[in-house]
Amino acid sequence: MTDFNAIEESRSLSCYVKRGVALVRGEGARVWDDRGAEYIDCVTGHGVANVGHANPRVAEAIAKQSRTLTTCSGVFANDARAKLLEKLFDFVPFAMEKAFLGNSGAEAVEAAIKIARANTGRENFVAAMRAFHGRTMGAVSATHKSDYRDAFAPLVPGFRHAPFNNAEKFVAAIDETVAGVFLEPVQGEGGVRPADEAFVRAVRERCDETGALLIMDEAQTGFGRTGKRFATEYFDVDPDVLLLAKAIGGGVPMGATMVRAGLDLTPGKHGSTFGGNPLACAASLATIDEILERGLDKRAAELGERFDERFDPARHDVVRERRRLGLMIGVELKTKAKPYLEHMATNGVLAMTAGPTVIRMLPPLTIEIEEFDRAIDALDEALREVG
Ligand SMILES: Cc1ncc(COP(=O)(O)O)c(C=O)c1O
Repeated sequence: MTDFNAIEESRSLSCYVKRGVALVRGEGARVWDDRGAEYIDCVTGHGVANVGHANPRVAEAIAKQSRTLTTCSGVFANDARAKLLEKLFDFVPFAMEKAFLGNSGAEAVEAAIKIARANTGRENFVAAMRAFHGRTMGAVSATHKSDYRDAFAPLVPGFRHAPFNNAEKFVAAIDETVAGVFLEPVQGEGGVRPADEAFVRAVRERCDETGALLIMDEAQTGFGRTGKRFATEYFDVDPDVLLLAKAIGGGVPMGATMVRAGLDLTPGKHGSTFGGNPLACAASLATIDEILERGLDKRAAELGERFDERFDPARHDVVRERRRLGLMIGVELKTKAKPYLEHMATNGVLAMTAGPTVIRMLPPLTIEIEEFDRAIDALDEALREVG
């Protein structure tokens, strides 16, 4: 039998610490490895498969579009792209006016950096401590953790970091030299940490005072994940720039940078060969329809509450804190999370870390209740038995 792990270990750059599992198929909330073992997937490609793996509506849309037109330069209009733009602006509950379609979260961040500098004429950016915004040079400059940054100096100049959820200190870092402020409504990689409403509102006010753009990075939190279409809705503020990625394409690579009225880029200033390609647009249209028709945002809110009812952190000495918004779930431990993930995997449940001591679970929003309960039971059991 071909050893897929061995091939990847020897032939991929060593960027990922491999888990020793080769996944070859998925359906809904389940995935299968090359030996036929079945898992409930609470990794979902880092929060991509909100509508489930091999979602029939998305699969059909991709298949149909692949037989019709898969590539179309941005200098031509395209039916799938235009329909998606219309649908996206209906779906997004903020006062947004225009969008740039790209291929990933990091590219959505890069476009935001360019939009902010070009539109304000300013150089600087503020982002949060523990923030994660991606791996390209601009995105990694907005990212906080030194492990992700240090080997790549010099980074893009002008970025500073201030404490997340500390309104006084964060706001003090925003002055008239600041082009944009990057914020995740729930820090994902940084440990599943929801922002406080008062904090985000204070940042919004300070951006209004100084003319800095508020750039909400919803790469991980968007498309129903947190129990609303977008997590920024919890704070009752409108961003100036909204970043989307991950779940937007139902598994097909895609990202988007949306801007409010008054912001734009002139011709020739930005572009992307694959950005807004008809294949990704068709997949995204189907994904949004699926979220809308099945009410998956509300489902995420309900299942999240079920998690709180069934998972009692007080039962486990090793648990420091349970943090959650919708189906974005974090369980912070007093010790390293890895052995607990391994135990869960042997029980047929895949979860991941968010920093070394946090177990993170991002199940599909379509997960069946029995599957979700099994995932919670596996978490409970791991916390009981690994010691
Ligand atoms: C909040 C946030 N922004 C940006 C990114 C980068 O997205 P991508 O990996 O698609 O470049 C991520 C990825 O985890 C993310 O969580």
